[in-house]
Amino acid sequence: MTGADCAVRGSFFDLLDNPWDYLGREHEAARFLADGLLVVKSGLIADFGPFEDVIVRHQGLEITHLENRLILPGLIDGHIHFPQVRVLGAYGNQLLDWLQNWIFPEEIKYKDRDYATNASKHFFHNLLAAGTTTCQAFTTSSPVSSEVFFEAAAERNMRVIAGLTGIDRFAPDDYLITPDDFYHQTKSLIERFHRKGRGLYAITPRFAVGCTTAMMDRSRQLKEEHPDCWVNTHISENPTEVKSVRDFYPDCRDYTEVHEVHGLLGPKFTAGHGVWLSDDELRRFSSSGAAISFCPMSNLYLGSGLFRLGRALDPEFRVRLSLGTDMGGGNAFSLIRVLDEAYKVGMCNNTLLDGSVNPREQDTAEAERNKLSPYRAFYLATLGGAKSLYLDDVLGNFWVGKEADFIALDWTAGQPGTSWHQSLITTEGPTSIEQAAQLLFGVMVVGDDRSVDETWIAGKRLYKTGDTVEAG
Ligand code: GUN
Ligand code: ZN
Repeated sequence: MTGADCAVRGSFFDLLDNPWDYLGREHEAARFLADGLLVVKSGLIADFGPFEDVIVRHQGLEITHLENRLILPGLIDGHIHFPQVRVLGAYGNQLLDWLQNWIFPEEIKYKDRDYATNASKHFFHNLLAAGTTTCQAFTTSSPVSSEVFFEAAAERNMRVIAGLTGIDRFAPDDYLITPDDFYHQTKSLIERFHRKGRGLYAITPRFAVGCTTAMMDRSRQLKEEHPDCWVNTHISENPTEVKSVRDFYPDCRDYTEVHEVHGLLGPKFTAGHGVWLSDDELRRFSSSGAAISFCPMSNLYLGSGLFRLGRALDPEFRVRLSLGTDMGGGNAFSLIRVLDEAYKVGMCNNTLLDGSVNPREQDTAEAERNKLSPYRAFYLATLGGAKSLYLDDVLGNFWVGKEADFIALDWTAGQPGTSWHQSLITTEGPTSIEQAAQLLFGVMVVGDDRSVDETWIAGKRLYKTGDTVEAG
């Protein structure tokens, strides 16, 4: 990989393991260096550790000192929609009506290269301002939108996953794509963009409501012919959608089986949402190595429901999870705000399971797993997301050899009272991992994208507070 050289000094926090495996001692899954040094060569982490240890190995380095900041690995958005940047925040509909009334009319515009190019400037600016350094994105059924997306990501040297949207029913005629066109255009896009620079390709049947069996068959064929590619879709987001999939696929016992019979469920497969998946479906996700992208901001915004976080994390059948904004279903680009929503969904689940609503449904262990501590939260947003996307060999923490995407958080930024709020923990900056975690919890429930002061991609700073976008 090509990238920049740099050396950054400051306070670092990252996750080395899954904190759900460290009940009562979650800090052991994380690492905090109050004064650390990160050395980057050609965009990769060449050295990392306590400043005093690392500096002796690199005399004469030019060092950028990020004081009063917490430096974390870049945030990973497992589920976002490039062509929805302008329709974020649409009023009054649940999923299926929202798609028809707001989303498809907007996405059709992305056939126009100029429109898509202008949108890409907004999209990537917002992404970087939110501290997101990698995303798995939906584009549209027009190859132009995929081309523009990959080109814009490559200009910024960003690790992204994306692909042409397959949809051959349940949308306006001029938005649909035939299964044959989807197949041929996907192949040509894979040729041009998969593993070119940091780009990765996802075969993308949009969702089973919008995909006939012929479209799903073509998706299976593509995955068989390109097993190295990712697969990205939606599943069990909204109750009416789930019923409609039952009608469209009467031979499948549930929504998950639609993907099983088409050979898609497995490693490098991500489905967004999964709010209404049964226990049995979650088990099949777990055993196959497939992932769910948990999108609480969208699930609340569109009224889809409460994802059963604690159930999906049952140690007997733990599902790989990323976090997704699902922007524009989610009404912001900020994964920090998604963590806030995820925390609240988890707390609602906790109430439903602690026996206070219905003593027969009490499950203390699952109730506990729903509590999103800062360790758990930032695990999902970094290393956990990377694992769910099968990218933890290159992303997710500050292991030497990984790609140097990182962010600098200002724990005092955000709402006017944030600085005073955080001063309850420290005014000097964190000196212990517990203090760092407490500040991070403050960031996730009081902060937002204003907490992100800088975003670095492959060793190069691409965003600093105050930067603006040159777009129409
Ligand atoms: N299901 C199919 N398409 C979409 C979409 O664009 N957003 C969401 N949230 N769900 C979908
Ligand atoms: Zn989505």
